[in-house]
Amino acid sequence: MSQVYIENLNEHEGKEVTVKGWVYNRRSSGRIQFVMVRDGTGIVQGVVVKAEVTPDVFALVEELTQESSVVVKGIVRSDDRAPGGYELTITDLELVQLAEDYPITPKEHGTEFLMDHRHLWLRSRRQHAILRVRHEIIKAIRDFFYERDFVLIDTPILTPAACEGTTTLFETDYFDDQAFLAQSGQLYLEAAAMAFGRVYCFGPTFRAEKSKTRRHLMEFWMLEPEVAYADHEDNMRLQEDLVSFIVQRVLKHRRAELQMLERDISRLEKVVVPFPRISYDEAIERLQKAGVEIEWGADFGGGDETILAEQFDRPVFVHRYPTSIKAFYMKPDPERPEVVLCDDLLAPEGYGEIIGGSQRIDEPELLKQRMIEHDLAEETYAWYLDLRRYGSVPHSGFGLGLERTVAWICGLPHVRETIPFPRLINRLYP
Ligand code: 4AD
Ligand code: MG
Repeated sequence: MSQVYIENLNEHEGKEVTVKGWVYNRRSSGRIQFVMVRDGTGIVQGVVVKAEVTPDVFALVEELTQESSVVVKGIVRSDDRAPGGYELTITDLELVQLAEDYPITPKEHGTEFLMDHRHLWLRSRRQHAILRVRHEIIKAIRDFFYERDFVLIDTPILTPAACEGTTTLFETDYFDDQAFLAQSGQLYLEAAAMAFGRVYCFGPTFRAEKSKTRRHLMEFWMLEPEVAYADHEDNMRLQEDLVSFIVQRVLKHRRAELQMLERDISRLEKVVVPFPRISYDEAIERLQKAGVEIEWGADFGGGDETILAEQFDRPVFVHRYPTSIKAFYMKPDPERPEVVLCDDLLAPEGYGEIIGGSQRIDEPELLKQRMIEHDLAEETYAWYLDLRRYGSVPHSGFGLGLERTVAWICGLPHVRETIPFPRLINRLYP
């Protein structure tokens, strides 16, 4: 008999099937035992009646420990009271391995303990729900760009230079040289945009952020699109189309997971285009009105972003930040060179910046000047300057942080649960 996955039990009602999995828990009431079995697709309750299995099987079931691996045979019965709507009347059970005392029990564990056991913690229901939402978001992103004829361009992870400032680079030896782990694929993607028009990359990026916050990881996944001939306005439209597409997709395909996580779904249902747009100037005024002591020219902290985002019921764009606090490649507003044509997209409910984007400088002279101001060696970026020498065009792009997006959509207090094995300032294990 071939294996059936628990999520497909509804197709086998009344039939005998084989389920291969692990014991989630077990309880006994004399002549009847209940074994919850999980197989990665769901959890089903198996009912073992003493009179209906061999004495050996019944005795074996009594010995089963949490997370023992088992192959069970049983008849699928629909039962409204059962989680998932079905249960199995077990006819046979084979033990694959009897698990040792499992460290994660149904009692409450502290976060550090769970993080130390992340390799096992992944088996829990809540982690399942979160990582399935992550999986859905990744698929939604790839579908979105595929449907719009963007070409996927994989950018390198070992790089010779910084993209987002030199203070957060991870360094590594590169034979007799030195290399850095990529902070962003953007510079390479700009080259690709000049070759293919509309491109994106989606991969891990690395930042040695000396910040211990609920929004920062040292290794995180970033989606970065880049579009030739697109300006700042086109850029924001693409961002809001993407973000609303992602949210709608998760609402459609992963509602059960959101419910498991007790997410307030009504908040997500409001995430439809257009998103509000406020300038940095207006954001400063709003913060000052809210009693924050902040002056024009300062960057926002997480708390500031939360105050701003709380004034809206969907994600909000803050655009045209001061040139002095933004990256070297951002294009100044021709009408007001003290600000750049950039935007941050702030998620609602205090989740902060999920996207940073901008129109890029397309003039070679200005770009060179900016690089000098930022102390970036011209030799290292010669190829990047070439892009402004051979058919330079206006172009724009952005980066969406996957983990912050997952945290927001799932309603999680911290990004550490949004990635299978998080890398945090104080954690490289497991
Ligand atoms: O705003 P950032 O730094 O933008 C860039 O890297 C651009 N080069 C992207 C581009 O235009 N192609 O980062 C983009 C997003 C942030 O909005 C945030 O969501 C996420 O990446 N991010 C982080 N997420 C988790 N942990 C960190 N340490 C992060 N740093 C940035
Ligand atoms: Mg940013």
